[in-house]
Amino acid sequence: MTQATPEQLNDLKFPGLDRTLEGMNCVRSIETDDQGVCHVYVELPLHGYPHQDELTSAITERVRSVDSEAKDVEVKYTVEVKGPQSGGSVGLRVKNVIAVGSGKGGVGKSTVAASLAFGLQSLGASVGLLDADVYGPSIPHLIGAAGKPEVREHINPNGSVVQRIHPVKHDGMSVMSIGFIVPDKDAVIWRGPMLHKLLTQFISETEWGKLDYLIVDMPPGTGDVALTLSQLMSLAGAVVVCTPQKVALLDAVKAIGMYEKVNIPILGMVENMTGDLFGRGGAEETARERSIPFLGEVPSNPEIRIRGDESRLQTLLAEDNASRDALQNLAANVAMQCAREHFKRPAAPTLEILQ
Ligand SMILES: Nc1ncnc2c1ncn2[C@@H]1O[C@H](COP(=O)(O)OP(=O)(O)O)[C@@H](O)[C@H]1O
Ligand SMILES: [Mg+2]
Repeated sequence: MTQATPEQLNDLKFPGLDRTLEGMNCVRSIETDDQGVCHVYVELPLHGYPHQDELTSAITERVRSVDSEAKDVEVKYTVEVKGPQSGGSVGLRVKNVIAVGSGKGGVGKSTVAASLAFGLQSLGASVGLLDADVYGPSIPHLIGAAGKPEVREHINPNGSVVQRIHPVKHDGMSVMSIGFIVPDKDAVIWRGPMLHKLLTQFISETEWGKLDYLIVDMPPGTGDVALTLSQLMSLAGAVVVCTPQKVALLDAVKAIGMYEKVNIPILGMVENMTGDLFGRGGAEETARERSIPFLGEVPSNPEIRIRGDESRLQTLLAEDNASRDALQNLAANVAMQCAREHFKRPAAPTLEILQ
């Protein structure tokens, strides 16, 4: 019997992740069926893995070279998203918390944050969306989410009763925003301690459930929210959005500095509103200069504004939409970057609470 063993695949490269299959610990089993077909079961660390075909070819070739009797080789994939288990210490069961920020308002942060959330969801991940822009919450309007988060009593294993906030469910996604709580147009001035308390409630007292990704739409400018988030949990990182103009790029660089200051890793930069009005490529160049990954560009398209105005931004991810490829590509790149960062980190002890 010449059936290949998982160990015989150990030295194969895992494309795009700078790891071997052994380093990824991802070949679950190899079984040959009655027909002589060899089935290889592999676990991927992200949905929408862009090099899957390449990996399949490499595995198939290796199995054939070891097991000359195999009639056929079939590689089957499952996904178990990897991440820093952000927020384990405050009871959050989220693998990757991702902040979407920029230096200033109006560059399309909320648009990118919501598109990223729905893009990751359409790749197959479980995703939540937190609107942390308490000064100008726009997520509920952009995606047409309405309703009030409910407060329900939960009984802890030790018998004590706690109040938990249940996010609004919209299109299969859990969403939280101050916009659900404070009526429209009531400007709220959040002082530091109040802001901290509110965000803490949105994170540690909210029933997010088990998530692969929690996307956080950040307010522009000040570092208060970033500081609070970084104190509560270890984020997977920040995605910095900017437009191609010079001034916007300078602001983005400031935002990068702000995240670095509070120890939130930078996942990369996104160029939004790429196109004739603002030009193209400035963000990619800035990212390259600073050795930061470039995660993609979202072309300027009136359709993006219209769908947001009409509270159906998520329909941009529908199959026939012109912006779909750019948004899907962005989501896949962010997922890939989270996986890369994960495998760069030293292995953390598994938290029992997460199992
Ligand atoms: N790629 C794009 N093409 C066209 N309009 C866009 C694009 N991205 C965002 N917009 C529009 O720009 C405005 C600001 O976007 P928004 O996401 O609210 O920015 P921010 O959250 O950074 O303040 C909105 O009207 C939005 O619809
Ligand atoms: Mg916004």
